[in-house]
Amino acid sequence: MDSMLIVSCSHGKHLGYLIAKKLKKKHSNLIVDKFPDNELRIRFDPNLKNKNIVLVQSFYKNISDCVIEVIFAAQTAYELRAKKVVLVAPYFPYLRQDKRFHTGEAISQRLIAGLIDKYFDAVYMMDPHLHRKNKLENVFKIRAKKLTANNLIADYIKKHIPNPVIIGPDEESYKWARNVADTLGVESTILEKKRYSSYNVKIKLNKKISLKNKNTVIVDDIVSTGYTILETLKILKKLGAKNIYCICVHGIFVNDALNKLKKAGIKVISTNTIPNKVAKIDVSGVISKSLIEV
Ligand code: R5P
Repeated sequence: MDSMLIVSCSHGKHLGYLIAKKLKKKHSNLIVDKFPDNELRIRFDPNLKNKNIVLVQSFYKNISDCVIEVIFAAQTAYELRAKKVVLVAPYFPYLRQDKRFHTGEAISQRLIAGLIDKYFDAVYMMDPHLHRKNKLENVFKIRAKKLTANNLIADYIKKHIPNPVIIGPDEESYKWARNVADTLGVESTILEKKRYSSYNVKIKLNKKISLKNKNTVIVDDIVSTGYTILETLKILKKLGAKNIYCICVHGIFVNDALNKLKKAGIKVISTNTIPNKVAKIDVSGVISKSLIEV
């Protein structure tokens, strides 16, 4: 649609421009700065009247600021007479907190979805972490579209990693690990994980798998602290794995996670849903194709 305008928010610039270029649509950056007391100020430069606005924002680092920014931007776009406002979230946050794990805790997934429902016409996201609510339509009331980098990951492995065997580090990772393995027609196994805290996970092997003379590729949606991958490494080493790769969709890599993984001898690769030093798989094509329908 000609009236589409792609607007990169503060954490969407690495993809917004690429998406607009692929779609041959106009692009602009949201102007975001802060008042001395840390309040956010946002401003649109172009005229938004009668336009379909696509806000691109990946929610990492200062997640709360990222959330406030898109809500202010969406409401402002409507006030400036935009026709439609759509959110593209290469990485969308708070989906893992999908139940009250401890007494008195907020169910953040439900709360963030409520906010997005209120301010947007639709939301598109890459590989959302869905577990107990396993479909986006059970999480959001607005149109919510799930996109996946699985085929891109499979293509990357095909081009760069011969003779692979795929490992999913926990039960939830099968949606990525098994799917990628099936696409490539190679062997895979899914491990069992128990999480005790953010930095304490234990991983178990259920089914023996031969890693001899293979490149071992751990595939998961998110790497955050990296502890899931480091625990997985212990098992893989016991099995005699030599060449170990980790490919994830969302490389959050908090603190020194990426260095820890590299020091442990793992070759890490991610998509560019979140910009980082190992973001070698570009998701802008998948996102732009999906936006044709906006
Ligand atoms: C959760 O189940 C996800 O799929 C990842 O395995 C998890 O978020 C990784 O977290 P971390 O890197 O902190 O262990």
